[in-house]
Order: sequence, then structure tokens, then C-alpha cells
Amino acid sequence: MCEHDQKGVTLWFTGLPSSGKSAIADRLYEFLKDRGYRAERLDGDIVRQDLTRDLGFSRADREENIRRVAFVAKLLTRNEIFVLCSFVSPYREMRDRARRTVGSFLEVYVKCPLEVCIERDVKGMYGKARAGEIKGFTGVSDPYEEPLRPDLVLETDKEPLDRSVDRVLSRMKELGFLE
Ligand SMILES: Nc1ncnc2c1ncn2[C@@H]1O[C@H](COP(=O)(O)OP(=O)(O)OP(=O)(O)O)[C@@H](O)[C@H]1O
Ligand SMILES: [Mg+2]
Repeated sequence: MCEHDQKGVTLWFTGLPSSGKSAIADRLYEFLKDRGYRAERLDGDIVRQDLTRDLGFSRADREENIRRVAFVAKLLTRNEIFVLCSFVSPYREMRDRARRTVGSFLEVYVKCPLEVCIERDVKGMYGKARAGEIKGFTGVSDPYEEPLRPDLVLETDKEPLDRSVDRVLSRMKELGFLE
């Protein structure tokens, strides 16, 4: 049963590890599903256990990871689904390519200072990277290129999770994706 006359869009959450991408996308997903919208989640951790489990974290592998995800996001988006993608996706070029692949695409920069992300260290990865146990970790030993013209910026060190989610919903309303 479809209650809403939906237009598809991919919301692409990018930012440092522990910045809040998954937390925001998960909460938003619940909110949308509860209200009868068609939505799907594509999250780095889950995708890397299956669709892209053969890939590592070199620049080439990160690009291939995002290429495959963007392909799936395109298929879902053109079927009028809200696709919530949460990927560090550290290079501008790969995000721009994802935008071109998908078409209906909003880049959401989940912005949080590195020091706060290190403090949060949700998965304990910053600790390992800083101890030299993980190589090529974004923010420590690998670059993160900030979006130059994101569609929305969420400063997760300054606002609580609910407020970030509300700001995404407001933007979706402004752009006509939500009633
Ligand atoms: N405004 C906010 N938005 C999102 N998360 C927030 C906010 N304020 C505090 N947090 C907290 O920050 C943490 C973010 O962790 P999360 O796993 O979502 O990061 P992530 O960006 O998905 O990292 P990774 O790239 O490693 O998957 C959570 O514990 C969350 O509760
Ligand atoms: Mg995450």
C-alpha cells in the first residue's frame, strides 16, 4: 500500500568516522517508515560485509565501493524511494560521481571536529589508528575532503541528534520531497 505520492531522492551523508552519519540516517529512516514513506538504507558497515566485501580502503577500493553503492542508489531512487546512504566517502570526486550517477541527490555534510570524533570513537577505530594498528584511516592517516557546496550541513557537535534529523526533514520539505 502506498500512501504518499513520493519523488525519489538519495540523501548522501558524508563525514568523518564517528561524526554521526549512521545515527542520523537510522533515526530518519525510522521516522519516514513510521509515516508510510518508502525508504531504504545503505550503510558503509553493512554494505562492506556483502556487496563490497572484496574491497579494502585504498583510494581505488574506496572509489569502487562508492561506485557500486551509487549504482544501487540510482536503481532505488528512480523507483521513487528515499535512499539514505551513510558513507565516509572522503573524496570530493567520488561524491560528485555518485551525484551524477543518481541524479536526484542531496549531499549532507555531517560536520564534526576531528577532536570530537576522536573523543566519541564509537567503534574504537581512532584509538587503533592512532596507535598505528590500522593504516589509511580517514582523519588520522588518510584525507577527508570537505564538501565545497553541500546541500545541507549538520554540525553534530553543536546540536543533538533529534535536531539534526529535524533539519534534514525541513530541507526535504523545502525541496518538495515531503508533504
Ligand atoms: N547531532 C548528532 N547527530 C548524530 N550523532 C550525534 C549527534 N550528537 C551526538 N551524536 C552521537 O555521535 C555518535 C555518532 O556515531 P555514528 O556511528 O553515527 O558515526 P558515523 O558517522 O556513522 O561513523 P562511521 O563512519 O564510523 O560509521 C553517536 O553515538 C551519536 O549518538
Ligand atoms: Mg556509520
